[in-house]
Amino acid sequence: MLGVGRIGAFHARALGGMAEVEQVVVADADHGRAEEFAARSGAEAARSTEVYGRVDAVVIAAPTAVHVELLRRAADARLPILCEKPIALDPTVAREAVEYVRARGAELQVGFQRRFDPMYLAAREVVRAGALGTLTRVHAVSVDRRPPPPEFVPTSGGIYRDTHIHDFDIVPWVTGLPIVEVTAIGANRGAAVFREHDDVDVSAVLFRLADGTLGTAHAGRRHEPGYDVRLELAGTHGTHACGGVTEGDFLTRFADAYRAELAAFVALAAGRIDNPCPAPAALAAQAVAEACVVSRREGRTVRVE
Ligand SMILES: NC(=O)c1ccc[n+]([C@@H]2O[C@H](COP(=O)([O-])OP(=O)(O)OC[C@H]3O[C@@H](n4cnc5c(N)ncnc54)[C@H](O)[C@@H]3O)[C@@H](O)[C@H]2O)c1
Repeated sequence: MLGVGRIGAFHARALGGMAEVEQVVVADADHGRAEEFAARSGAEAARSTEVYGRVDAVVIAAPTAVHVELLRRAADARLPILCEKPIALDPTVAREAVEYVRARGAELQVGFQRRFDPMYLAAREVVRAGALGTLTRVHAVSVDRRPPPPEFVPTSGGIYRDTHIHDFDIVPWVTGLPIVEVTAIGANRGAAVFREHDDVDVSAVLFRLADGTLGTAHAGRRHEPGYDVRLELAGTHGTHACGGVTEGDFLTRFADAYRAELAAFVALAAGRIDNPCPAPAALAAQAVAEACVVSRREGRTVRVE
């Protein structure tokens, strides 16, 4: 485990609870944090540079800015990799990193845990079974309970690359249709730190899927009663709505999905399954986020490249 911050600590604990995982080795740029975590959890602490020779697979849960450097090292060691989203903030850099990993034959799964969540799995089944008829409308909501730590904001890439990217992965995954066009607007209704970093804390995205289906995605950084994640799909013959407000935050709402994601990664590393979240899908979600950044900045509708 590279990075034992918010998400890395969760992942490391979950991996430690899996029968198939012999030993979890944790490293962090803050070595004291890795040692403290190891002492509490039964994991083994190591220096970042030492990890690659001691493990069969690598999970990258360090800040996005260092993903590419860590991906390259893991790929050089020909290790299977689970990398948290986004691969990199700059899509060109992300594409090059994916190519680097591919050229070395290493597996790369990207951390879109919603693909393992029963709510989205069920929605996907409903669409795939044709129960809604011709799909006409999609509505996705991803609103955090509380804003992230202020120091995370400048490293996050903004609400489209950090939060909406989950919508931009899951909507095409559920519907089987890529997002081809976006119009993004945003507002600052809360902590000043978002505005200070040219970010917004409330966002609305209008999008069009490849078959003409229209959609909306809303994201926000603060909703005190709980984490609000939902999806609504409508077609000529029916509607499917799921999700809503749950107490806690993303770590509680998606705890089982993260565990399932990690179990899938262990199975992938053992060669038992195909990659459930391959890099091209992550790059596609990232391209939608980039289109949103341009759309908000320039106040216009943008085609997804
Ligand atoms: N899939 C999800 O739902 C989800 C949720 C939260 C965060 N994330 C992603 O996970 C990543 C980490 O986010 P976080 O909120 O846990 O951040 P965080 O700041 O809480 O933790 C990051 C940790 O990585 C350590 N670190 C920094 N540089 C390192 C290096 N070179 N090698 C090893 N460790 C290093 C830091 O010291 C820190 O302990 C980000 O890319 C973020 O986008 C994904």
